[in-house]
Amino acid sequence: MTFNHIAVLRAFAAIIALGLTSGCGRDETAIAPPPAAAYALSDFSSADACAPCHARYVAEWEGSMHKYSTADPIWMLANNSLQQSTAGKLGETCFQCHAPVGFLTGNTKPTFDFPDLDPLVREGITCDLCHVLRPPFLSTDQLIRYSVEPGPVKYGTLTDPEPTSAHEHGYDSDYDRSDVCRQCHDLTVNDVPVEVTFTEWQNSAWGGMSVECQDCHMRKYSGRAAPTGPVRSDLHRHSFAGVDVAITDFPGKAEQLAEVDSLLKNAASMELVPPVPGGAGDTLLVGVRVTNDKTGHNLPTSVFFNRQMWIEVTVWKGEDTVCRSGYLDANGDLMDNNSALRPNEDTLLTIFNGTLYKDGHESNVFELDSLVNRTLAPFESRVAEYAFIPPTAGVWNVRARLLFRPFGPYLFRSLGAGAYVTELPVFEMVSREGFVTVE
Ligand code: HEC
Ligand code: HEC
Ligand code: HEC
Ligand code: HEC
Ligand code: HEC
Repeated sequence: MTFNHIAVLRAFAAIIALGLTSGCGRDETAIAPPPAAAYALSDFSSADACAPCHARYVAEWEGSMHKYSTADPIWMLANNSLQQSTAGKLGETCFQCHAPVGFLTGNTKPTFDFPDLDPLVREGITCDLCHVLRPPFLSTDQLIRYSVEPGPVKYGTLTDPEPTSAHEHGYDSDYDRSDVCRQCHDLTVNDVPVEVTFTEWQNSAWGGMSVECQDCHMRKYSGRAAPTGPVRSDLHRHSFAGVDVAITDFPGKAEQLAEVDSLLKNAASMELVPPVPGGAGDTLLVGVRVTNDKTGHNLPTSVFFNRQMWIEVTVWKGEDTVCRSGYLDANGDLMDNNSALRPNEDTLLTIFNGTLYKDGHESNVFELDSLVNRTLAPFESRVAEYAFIPPTAGVWNVRARLLFRPFGPYLFRSLGAGAYVTELPVFEMVSREGFVTVE
């Protein structure tokens, strides 16, 4: 049983190394002061106030990552640990998008436990934040300058809304376009484009064809937006499935899990590239081609440096396995540099992730000055090659699976969140089987 240590050939050909950007005279880690409590908590309404007329919206949103954005213990622990390691320099950076009502009203806490936050802040990205966003929908470096107009007008794209005493209606066609998502989904830090889903989308054929975020993340359905409104055929789902799922008790967990599973099964395609024929004892190369043909941005995107999408490969005949890659160690980690037990043993591993750096050392999303991105851009293909030497003639089986999980266990352990490792799902995106006949 041999395991060939020949590097994956073209897998990393598309690495984009972004250069240092420090020469432009800005102070890299200091951020501009907070918005000095531009608004009061009473300017925003709780989702409870919408529930009597928009029950379905509230139910879908309650299980979404937008609601979970503040409750997520990983976000909280990451904020708290960065707050400590930067001696408070972090300020309110992380609250901007994850707890926007707290940010806009000055109700943030440097380090905190979830219950320390005001109940309205704990609602995360709530109805009355998204539906009062106003143009220009722009993102800026590190400190977001929201453009919001809290008050009686709720903006959307209904052209003939049924009047209600609860609020006024404002028509804005931008709500049907990716622009409305941009402020939080296009994050540049220290001038490094780090979580830039909007830009990835805009520069792709999807952006060119105007296939918007909403088309994939807010699917249309027929129904009533409110009990007194008409039946409409173009209402929008509000569960915003992506790849994350709640790791603590949270409403709608099973539904989110199923939606994530189905999204990930429709994100990429994969095929086996057969080897040049050979005999027993020859080195054969089997290829696995992965193509990002269905995702409107890079795959993975945004916090790609934490996500894990990888290829698991097995070549075997009967009891003999001649090639294995993408398997986990006893801690549940991939055997790359993050494995505590068997670091870098899996030399064939193909993982579509990335790394953040400062001064050449691994860094975090707040202090980085450059990054390496190994994700797949829209419509990009990459072939990973796996070399093996079949010891005997006959028919050898090949199986490849494209797998995804939101985080690796090592990351949870490093944040003191090891207890949640059992809550981490692994999603199978695509699976392919074939065989190699060896003379
Ligand atoms: C510009 C908006 C923005 C800012 C500022 C921001 N995030 Fe995020 N964050 C996001 C978005 C959007 C996602 C979801 C992306 C994805 O799923 O890939 C996310 C996802 C995450 C996740 C993974 C999901 C989760 O909650 O477990 C963590 C952890 C996280 N952010 C931590 C932080 C920390 C820590 C900071 C401050 C240093 C921060 N974020 C600042 C927008 C932001
Ligand atoms: C008393 C009932 C009622 C309450 C409470 C209520 N709404 Fe509405 N809302 C309506 C009706 C009726 C419509 C129009 C439905 C239609 O024409 O199909 C509507 C439409 C909307 C629209 C679409 C606007 C547009 O012009 O496209 C948004 C957004 C909205 N509501 C947000 C909210 C939010 C946020 C809350 C809570 C803060 C809320 N609503 C509370 C009754 C209500
Ligand atoms: C053509 C369909 C499509 C479009 C358009 C699209 N997405 Fe996605 N999105 C997906 C699929 C499929 C996934 C799951 C695969 C992945 O993680 O990238 C996903 C995942 C995500 C994730 C989680 C990503 C991660 O890997 O952590 C975020 C955040 C997201 N999308 C935001 C957006 C935003 C914002 C836009 C608009 C700028 C957008 N998407 C446009 C299909 C789409
Ligand atoms: C992340 C931002 C976001 C959040 C959070 C959000 N919405 Fe929406 N909502 C939208 C967008 C964008 C549209 C319009 C989609 C389009 O026209 O393509 C929309 C549409 C609507 C509509 C108009 C009818 C329809 O289905 O298109 C109603 C009503 C509505 N939302 C209510 C709510 C309520 C109630 C909540 C809270 C439970 C909520 N929304 C939370 C972004 C959001
Ligand atoms: C106020 C900031 C904000 C706005 C506006 C916003 N998002 Fe998000 N979004 C976030 C944050 C923060 C997260 C990460 C939450 C988490 O995973 O804890 C997120 C998560 C998501 C996810 C789930 C990602 C995952 O990995 O599961 C999707 C999908 C998504 N957003 C799509 C959209 C779309 C589409 C729009 C526009 C209609 C939008 N968002 C507008 C801040 C925002």
